[in-house]
Amino acid sequence: MCGIFGYIGSDNGIHYTLEALQLMEYRGYDSAGIVFEEEKAFTLIKTVGKVAELKKTVNTRVANTTSSKALGHTRWATHGIPCEKNAHPHQSNDGSVVIVHNGIIENYQELRTELVAEGYSFISDTDTEILVNYIEYMAQKEGGIKQGLVRALQHVKGAFAIALMSTRDTSSIYAMRRGAPLLLGIGKGEYFLASDMCAFLQHTNDVIFLDENELVTLHDTEYSIESLYTGERIDKSIESVDFDIQSAQKQGYAHYMLKEIYEQPDVIEQSLIGKLSDGKIVLSHLPKEQPPRIHIIACGTSYYAGLWGKYAIEELAGIPVEVEIASEFRYRKKALDKNTLVLAITQSGETADTVAGCAIARELGCKTMAICNVVGSTITRMVDTVLYTQAGPEISVASTKAMTSQMIALLCIALHYSSNRESEQYREYIGGLQHLASTVRDILPQTEKIARQYAELCKDKKSFFYLGRGYCYPLALEGALKLKELTYIHAEGYPAGEMKHGPIALVEKSLMTIALLFDDEFGEKTQSAISEIQAREGQVIAIAPLGLVTTADFEWHLPKTVDLLQSFIMLPALQLLSYSIACLLDRNVDMPRNLAKSVTVE
Ligand code: G6P
Repeated sequence: MCGIFGYIGSDNGIHYTLEALQLMEYRGYDSAGIVFEEEKAFTLIKTVGKVAELKKTVNTRVANTTSSKALGHTRWATHGIPCEKNAHPHQSNDGSVVIVHNGIIENYQELRTELVAEGYSFISDTDTEILVNYIEYMAQKEGGIKQGLVRALQHVKGAFAIALMSTRDTSSIYAMRRGAPLLLGIGKGEYFLASDMCAFLQHTNDVIFLDENELVTLHDTEYSIESLYTGERIDKSIESVDFDIQSAQKQGYAHYMLKEIYEQPDVIEQSLIGKLSDGKIVLSHLPKEQPPRIHIIACGTSYYAGLWGKYAIEELAGIPVEVEIASEFRYRKKALDKNTLVLAITQSGETADTVAGCAIARELGCKTMAICNVVGSTITRMVDTVLYTQAGPEISVASTKAMTSQMIALLCIALHYSSNRESEQYREYIGGLQHLASTVRDILPQTEKIARQYAELCKDKKSFFYLGRGYCYPLALEGALKLKELTYIHAEGYPAGEMKHGPIALVEKSLMTIALLFDDEFGEKTQSAISEIQAREGQVIAIAPLGLVTTADFEWHLPKTVDLLQSFIMLPALQLLSYSIACLLDRNVDMPRNLAKSVTVE
């Protein structure tokens, strides 16, 4: 989703901004732009497509220009198609205010009507252009940019983050967030604003995590933060972020996605540090008593991890678990109370629907917890307890290692609340977990090789089913999602037992089915679904543990491990299959079309 960046300091802000926009590319975008201040006037440059294009245009048009104040933006279209006029930054009609914006202004129609009545006109289709003119209009009324900005933001509705400059005060940059991410980086004699800390971590690790409705004013040598509503000054602590920028680079892999798939063994090891000791899982900061009920909310891949977690928590801890897509949860009439633990699963901690779901859970008086990867992100500051997944930065838009780390966290919760820690099953899981990272590490190269062979077989198919039961059901959903995201081929994930209730009508020669099986009570039942598909001329690839024989047309055997731990071997196989097909089809693996890494709008 949109990325915002701002720089003020003694160096060349144009250079810093272009570099930052490139570092935020992975968030997903379709156009980019920059504005800088020079002798109290603004220069705006915007291009459709990649930041490399913007860089080229900047180098041609203003090659030797430097500026100590600049704002930049990568846009993921919400209002209006991706084109130059809709790209950010936007400028007020009189040219005095420029803005970059992430998120949605909900009452923009109302503001538009008010502005049109005052004689304003608009050239773009965006809510941002209305916002910047509204701020300028208020600045005129109030006799100053800061006063006008405060009035405007108090009236504006929606979830957004902004950064702006004005010719009324060319020594400052102003910024604020409400429901969308924005961080302040504190450098030596310079300040950075960004939607994502990876945009400035090569310059400073000192970060201020801004809270909602905190207005930031940046000058060359100082900054201040105050409440938008009371004007009171707020002293925020500067936190030093321990984040390895190296791990956000490709390190010789063809794509971030492949690198992140190969990082999964490390992620498993990392996520178990401090949780697995003395043959037990102990999550010291979680209450010892089981919560009576758990309600998981999440989006995308994180939702599928949650579904997998339901099976694990109910099996091992006996706690009833519901799992719900966050965008449904947030608007539904709910019967939840303080006995329910609402567990938000989110890699980024910034997904708009999951953030909103957490806020509602708090209003309802529920206990709240997050499984999250990004330290200091919005959700981690809203919930009662956070379980960090320690997966490191995930750059590829399609999530891989984050899901593995979320499943480990969920399994740890299940084992932490396990009703029978003395059982054979508990001991088996702990033993299996101790070896899991090395098992996954050993099999990855061979799994990639086989995935590449199956990719040849699959690349021309037009439609796929992914089927599974039990733990294989959420994995089937994730397998289908990965294929859609990366290759743009139609794929559906289904519980194998539902096949006969409709989907079977689609089976014919050209349909490829990927059947997922474990050596458990569901294996035989999924085999029946395989036979039914074959009877209708559909082809089937079965992915199953060694020793499990099926009638599938192709059998892809993976090493066998303990029960549900098999999921951690199956998941990379599914990821590598989609990855390999995407490579053969020459897709943009790390940044598939239309997708965003962090969906910060509804
Ligand atoms: C986007 C990403 C997905 C991700 C989902 C939820 O759709 O493309 O990969 O699973 O958001 O993101 P979260 O950060 O909340 O886990």
